[in-house]
Amino acid sequence: MNARPIFGEQGAGSGTLPGKPSLRIAPEGTAPRSPLPGAALRPAVLADVASLERLMSPFVATGDLLPRSNYDLCRHIKEYVVAEASPGGEIVACGSVKIYSQHLGEVAGLAVKPEWQGAGLGRALLEALILEARAHGLNEVLALTRKPAFFVKLGFAPAEREHFPLKVWADCNKCPRQNCCDEVAVILRL
Ligand SMILES: CC(C)(COP(=O)(O)OP(=O)(O)OC[C@H]1O[C@@H](n2cnc3c(N)ncnc32)[C@H](O)[C@@H]1OP(=O)(O)O)[C@@H](O)C(=O)NCCC(=O)NCCS
Repeated sequence: MNARPIFGEQGAGSGTLPGKPSLRIAPEGTAPRSPLPGAALRPAVLADVASLERLMSPFVATGDLLPRSNYDLCRHIKEYVVAEASPGGEIVACGSVKIYSQHLGEVAGLAVKPEWQGAGLGRALLEALILEARAHGLNEVLALTRKPAFFVKLGFAPAEREHFPLKVWADCNKCPRQNCCDEVAVILRL
């Protein structure tokens, strides 16, 4: 993630979690900081892999996320952005941009810990991933999701999955749910 650091600030007067954080991009060249309590977005590192597995596991169980092996997470760790709680440093949200071609990427593995949902982290992560996709010069990003309304709220439009043969080739053909898939394709032109 070459984009500028992004950090969050939880609304004043909130109790434990979640309050509505106000998320903004830190000025270029400054270190990310996290006024307490809040969450800061940063590129994932290999040391985050175990936390990513723990964070994603309940959503894999419900079928909201595809399973990712430890090998796959290590191999593609540079594609991930994480939200780190402050204080404590717990990884409370994550997401990634997978690149399929010079033009097409996919937002994948987007997950916010249940206690942190509804606080704006999903939006902040998605916006950071979109910035990342733009920085790579991609023309469009797709997502295959059971939560299309969330993506539509952030500017994505419904699409036909058959328009993305590279995605179908990479994941769908190997997925055990390929014949009973309830995921919807959405696309954002950048
Ligand atoms: C989907 C998910 C990432 C949203 O994260 P979040 O932090 O709760 O979302 P935010 O608080 O940033 O919400 C941003 C906006 O989207 C809306 N929104 C959030 N989840 C939504 C949903 N499931 N359907 C419709 N709108 C939704 C919010 O109401 C908010 O709208 P507002 O700005 O008008 O108030 C989170 O619920 C999650 O991790 N779900 C489980 C994993 C999953 O399904 N991931 C997506 C697979 S690709």
